[in-house]
Amino acid sequence: MNLKGRDFLKLMDYTPEEITYLIDLAADLKEKKKRGIRHDSLAGKNIALIFEKTSTRTRCSFEVAAHDLGMHVTYLDPSGSQIGKKESIADTARVLGRMFDGIEYRGFGQEIVEELAKYADVPVWNGLTNEFHPTQMLADMLTIREHLGRLEGVRLVYMGDARYNMGNSLMVTCAKLGMDFVACTNRTYFPADELVEYCRKTAKETGGSITLTEELAEGLKDADVVYTDVWVSMGEPDEAWKERLGDLMPYQVNKKAMELAKPEAIFMHCLPAFHDLKTKIGREVYEKFGYDELEVTNEVFESGQSVVFDEAENRMHTIKAVMLATLGEQTEGE
Ligand code: CP
Ligand code: NVA
Repeated sequence: MNLKGRDFLKLMDYTPEEITYLIDLAADLKEKKKRGIRHDSLAGKNIALIFEKTSTRTRCSFEVAAHDLGMHVTYLDPSGSQIGKKESIADTARVLGRMFDGIEYRGFGQEIVEELAKYADVPVWNGLTNEFHPTQMLADMLTIREHLGRLEGVRLVYMGDARYNMGNSLMVTCAKLGMDFVACTNRTYFPADELVEYCRKTAKETGGSITLTEELAEGLKDADVVYTDVWVSMGEPDEAWKERLGDLMPYQVNKKAMELAKPEAIFMHCLPAFHDLKTKIGREVYEKFGYDELEVTNEVFESGQSVVFDEAENRMHTIKAVMLATLGEQTEGE
């Protein structure tokens, strides 16, 4: 397996074997880190992290992973560069490509990260766009494998806004890896037809399946994984809350929903999550609309079925695998 020089923009660009290789490599790197075995084989390299939207997990994962691999990091915050305002993506890509060995980009449209990759001569990694969140996928798959012991045949049910980055990415990933993906939500929030068609075609080859349903009992039946994400994503207007609460509250992941899944099902969320009133936005929504828990209840979030913090930790190990595979020699995890 040789991924050196490749961009990591969306999982549609990767074969099932390549995705599995990255998950295996991440597991290997996690083991090394736990045992205190040094793995700084990328010493002397430099990477740039461009964030046009805020982040806790993705930024910290890239930074810690880069440091563990021996690399230096430059962080450009949402207001800290000329990108898009005074300088085009193409020009920025050609400048940064001369200085850095790899570039991470988090921002808005997928076309921006694709353009960056087109013009930069170094690997570009997508740290989240409106459409896709591919590094999150590797962390999620590693987490599922650690908890359930397998990926093939796992039934993953996504509740909430299934037409945005998380729903889209999970559907693609499940299709690629022979898993059963279910979007269980209001039909307005089903993923776009074109992407569903691509995923159904892919799933046919891998033994997976794609189901879209509004029925909770049908959707959650036999679920191994129940997954949700925020109902209003970064970059969307605050005005969207009213409509989302009306449309998606029936699809809140609460105890009743979890009881429709397999008893041993796990709960997952990419985080950050609105499960209590300890956030500014959570409080604002409460004051305006009276809901104190949104996409997931605190009970489920804090339950033994919840694996959200394993998932968060795995962001670091999997992002490390992506950087090592695309920048380094292929010596690890083979
Ligand atoms: N899950 C995730 O991408 O988290 P951040 O927004 O904190 O990076
Ligand atoms: N859908 C969320 C994911 C955050 C990791 C967002 O785009 O804000």
